[in-house]
Amino acid sequence: MKSRIIGTGSYTPEKVLTNYDLEKIVDTNNDWIVARTGIEERRIAADDELTSDLASRAAERALEMAGVSAEDIDVIVVGTITGDYPWPATACIVQANIGAKKAHAYDVSAACSGFLYALASADDFLVAGRGKRALVIGAEIFSRSCIDWTDRNTCVLFGDGAGAVVLEAQEGDKGVLSSHLHSDGNYVDFLYQPGFGVKHQPSLEGLEAKLPFLKMNGNEVYKFAVRMMTEVSKEALKANGYSSEDVGLFIPHQANLRILEATTKRLKLTDEQSFINVNKYGNTSAATIPIALDEANRGGQIKAGDLVLMAAFGGGFTWGGTLVRW
Ligand code: UT7
Repeated sequence: MKSRIIGTGSYTPEKVLTNYDLEKIVDTNNDWIVARTGIEERRIAADDELTSDLASRAAERALEMAGVSAEDIDVIVVGTITGDYPWPATACIVQANIGAKKAHAYDVSAACSGFLYALASADDFLVAGRGKRALVIGAEIFSRSCIDWTDRNTCVLFGDGAGAVVLEAQEGDKGVLSSHLHSDGNYVDFLYQPGFGVKHQPSLEGLEAKLPFLKMNGNEVYKFAVRMMTEVSKEALKANGYSSEDVGLFIPHQANLRILEATTKRLKLTDEQSFINVNKYGNTSAATIPIALDEANRGGQIKAGDLVLMAAFGGGFTWGGTLVRW
């Protein structure tokens, strides 16, 4: 029994924020952003759009492709760190929005690795025989949750969006082959949002200290991301007896073009084997992989039987690699 991806969907907000727009907001320029990150533009959610709205639209598109009704879904797992509320889970709001009446729903908090963590959780549920179909979503609105729009070091990197897949338990050799998840909590403060939670409760002093905004040690995150995404990709291939030549398409977390290129090179994959769309959306955290998967799928870049390798890295630190036979 395997969890097969039978539908993909994505939704990115209409509003485009280009590097030239950012030049008017902070002391930056298009050339710096493109040279250091490969990002040209990103999407920004409308004021009345919630993370659950982005997630629901992506989910509906994935369900449509799968030809499955929301009422046939047994579980909804959303990878997000920018939910509508601190609690309850954004997945519950999605469940109500799309009318997935029999599904239980929960969020997974693993930052940029959130989609692969959510996928592994849903896969375990299906393979254990506890349900037939799952909806797995990665959705984020960083622009209104933790971005400091006066900090040029971070505000140029992120964007909003959502992607989703429908998984179905099927006999045969197609589907998720294995997931490999890792964490190292010694590096929490290399990439995190200090407030407001239990450690730093809401206060005016905390606001003045900018605690609700993302903090990042960019240089260290860069090095870890390349090393861990490379290692976990090799781990996933080795566990299934494959090597880089066998990969049909590599879909890495779209953090930054330089990270993607360095990882692809270390894995000895060709440019044709690697999918890149970070130029259009920036880093949408847990949403990058399912958005990329949907674009590659709809664009005909993944054929039935292809080996699809996905790798992610994010705050925690968390990282993961997943191999799928399409
Ligand atoms: O999912 C994981 C999420 N995080 C990431 O993907 C981030 C990983 N890290 C990176 O991608 C890179 O570290 C960055 C793109 C964030 C930064 O690139 P870098 O080559 O490591 O630059 P840097 O931080 O060493 O900064 C170089 C210079 C600095 O100026 P000085 O001190 O040399 O005068 C920065 O102040 O670039 C300056 N700088 C900028 N200049 C123009 C930093 N941000 C900007 C900016 N525009 N937006």
